[in-house]
Amino acid sequence: MAFFKRTIKDVPIDHKTVLVRADYNVPLNKKGEISDDLRIRASIPTLEYLLKHHAKVVVMSHLGRPEGRDKSQSLEVVSERLAELLGKKVIFVDDCIGDKVVQAVKKAPADSVVLLENLRYYAEEEANDEKFAEKIAKSTGARYFVQDGFGVVHRAHASTDAITHFVPGVSGLLLEREYVTITSAMEHPKRPLVAVMGGAKISDKITVIERLVGVADRIVIGGAMANTFLKYKGYHVGASKVEDGKESVLDGIYSAAHDKSEGHADDFIMLPADLAVAKEVSEAASRRNIGLGEVAEDDIILDIGDQAIENMVNAVSGAKTVIWNGTLGYAELPEFAHGSARLALQLATDPEITSIIGGGDTADFVLKWDGNGGESFTHVSTGGGASLELMAGKKLPGVESLLDS
Ligand code: 3PG
Repeated sequence: MAFFKRTIKDVPIDHKTVLVRADYNVPLNKKGEISDDLRIRASIPTLEYLLKHHAKVVVMSHLGRPEGRDKSQSLEVVSERLAELLGKKVIFVDDCIGDKVVQAVKKAPADSVVLLENLRYYAEEEANDEKFAEKIAKSTGARYFVQDGFGVVHRAHASTDAITHFVPGVSGLLLEREYVTITSAMEHPKRPLVAVMGGAKISDKITVIERLVGVADRIVIGGAMANTFLKYKGYHVGASKVEDGKESVLDGIYSAAHDKSEGHADDFIMLPADLAVAKEVSEAASRRNIGLGEVAEDDIILDIGDQAIENMVNAVSGAKTVIWNGTLGYAELPEFAHGSARLALQLATDPEITSIIGGGDTADFVLKWDGNGGESFTHVSTGGGASLELMAGKKLPGVESLLDS
């Protein structure tokens, strides 16, 4: 599938100053260290391509949701990791507009990388402010804008939208790969396509699930989201997390699934056949496997059960494409990560399966499970909200703003 936007390969970037929007919104631990560098690693191919073409590369990003300047959300820590990964110096500027940026970019030789400070120190960034975007463009003097922050293209912000009114915008290699991989899996998947949906809330994923009913050959439901489905089906869920008021959404999903599967909606949408519960959510909690009708008032459902794991493995093992979004249990605690770990193992070891793994919590889980940068899977997305919106078929402002191919 060809990408509908121009990329860095379609424009003469040699020896030019190029402004790259990355998504370096990476998790930091209590000591302020980067606990997962997937997004930084994923940006390297584009930066290396630009450097190979002797561009002067100026990178900008946001980190967290600071209100004004906040040292604990500085991108300086990212500049250190970026330098290690690139094997070259990264010039860090503690602002993203103004004279400091002008001087640093002017002084930087060709083939160098400059990283600007957190865009969200300025409220104008999220306000998609034209004047702020113009200041970024003028301060950096960029001839091209490269959007490579896939994780942020669902936002219409100054650095994803307004900036393209001042500098012609093209896609980087990561954005192109994410867009094409996810869109191809939704539009022209190798079949059978099995979608495994988990995580806490249905509300985040309604439009994706609705679209998947049309696209997938089977949908497996797990995570706390399954509790809401089970309650809708009349099962007691005890003290488990559920979302109320979702009956009409689920009516719609089941009615579409009924039509799609010629009356076999309960086979098409696979709910857990049994459950793993505990009385509390803690390291000390032990896993108890019980049947669907056996949930006591004070039981908390924290994972899919052993039979459900076997059913899920059977559903996935014949698939040619698996889209996985949302962990299947409370995967932060190993006792309740059995379902997610078993699925990760299946995807990692079955060479027939093209595995597309959503960003956010699911990506965090598989990266820890894998311990190998996600190499065991076909595609681990760097986007949380962005990958969901793309899967739902929505237009992404940070992609729409780029030059058409
Ligand atoms: C993300 O982590 O999903 C992106 O970096 C976007 O961040 P935001 O949700 O704070 O806009």
